[in-house]
Amino acid sequence: MSKPAMVAGVMSGTSADGIDVALARIASSRGDLRFRLLAHRGFPYPKNIRRKILQLMNASSASVPELARLNFLLGELYAEAIRKAMRSAGIRRIDLAGCHGQTLYHQGETADFLGRKLSATWQTGEAAIVAARLGIPVVSDFRPADMAAGGKGAPLVPFFDYALFRHRSRGRILQNIGGIGNLTAIPARAAPDQVIAFDTGPGNMVIDACCQRLFQRPMDRNGEIARRGRVLQAVINKLLRDAFFRQKPPRTAGREEFGGRFTDRFITQCRRAAVIKPEDIVATATAFTAATIVDALRRFVLKRSSKNKYQDFIVSGGGARNRTLMRYLRESLPPLGLRAQTSDTLGMPVAAKEAAAFALLAYQTWHQLAGNLPAATGASQPAILGKISFPPLEAARR
Ligand SMILES: Nc1ncnc2c1ncn2[C@@H]1O[C@H](COP(=O)(O)OP(=O)(O)O)[C@@H](O)[C@H]1O
Ligand SMILES: [Mg+2]
Repeated sequence: MSKPAMVAGVMSGTSADGIDVALARIASSRGDLRFRLLAHRGFPYPKNIRRKILQLMNASSASVPELARLNFLLGELYAEAIRKAMRSAGIRRIDLAGCHGQTLYHQGETADFLGRKLSATWQTGEAAIVAARLGIPVVSDFRPADMAAGGKGAPLVPFFDYALFRHRSRGRILQNIGGIGNLTAIPARAAPDQVIAFDTGPGNMVIDACCQRLFQRPMDRNGEIARRGRVLQAVINKLLRDAFFRQKPPRTAGREEFGGRFTDRFITQCRRAAVIKPEDIVATATAFTAATIVDALRRFVLKRSSKNKYQDFIVSGGGARNRTLMRYLRESLPPLGLRAQTSDTLGMPVAAKEAAAFALLAYQTWHQLAGNLPAATGASQPAILGKISFPPLEAARR
């Protein structure tokens, strides 16, 4: 068993709601991994910063100098978030951090650019700043190495799901509902290449955008608005015919697919379908998210050959707190033989899981071990992910 390391994992997802920090103790020897989550804390972005991030994720309104400044600003914010999490958890020392960064752009599929076929991704949040402020090495920029190995650079959390949550006798589906929804399906006693993982579609992204436009609120807290609304099933049925939902896994999604343009179309279709109240649009967005998940399960996970392969459906991410969304999911899962629960029941708080994953991925990289699951990303082989930034020499010696 290697000497246990104290590792911070930092996640700030496509919702741009804030920064999640997980603090973990990790040790391993020859494939036997011990991962213990010690604490996790969430730090919402101040309003003006969230607005700027959302603006800079939008190619038509981003300026290059501001993108450069945002990179350094996020470095400072990540360092502060880690420091605050440590202080409030009473943890004095950490050895390593892993920062996913804020995704500005992700194109997992190759496409022609100036005569070459390329895929491309861009996460921002300067790890050199985090390393200098905390005096520890920091791993960041996890996605490109997987893409260089032929993968889509996403999803990366399945590696963590497989490492921590695979089970000898139960088939498990882990569904994260962040800005985007993604799942990892792990049959009982699965080998790594039997894992299925892909983005199901929108998570909270369309719900959040509808709440912002119609109620000037960043989210539908606890699903209260949707609870009062009526679901327009015809709109959902029509949107599920979109090419994205037919696309076979591995597949990835982001603001490029379900951002502002999609929300415009969504609201227009709701208004065309019936005379409605704004609550009905939020309810329909919520039911739509649930429907995309159930649709993905039916099409790509619970095929006839794999009937009864899965029992547990484990939800994480901010969407697990949306009671109306959880109710829609709970109602549609029993016919599929699945029982919904949140990751809290497995000792992994819903807001901590993705941050915790990047603590493990940083640990892997530091030990020159692979962090991608080729079955999930489509890479041709396992790859060591990320780049390591070191602190200035005197900060490191302290
Ligand atoms: N109490 C809550 N009620 C409803 N939705 C919530 C609640 N808390 C968080 N969320 C939703 O979760 C989102 C953030 O989830 P998160 O897992 O951090 O996603 P991401 O990885 O995209 O940042 C918020 O934007 C919001 O839509
Ligand atoms: Mg978040």
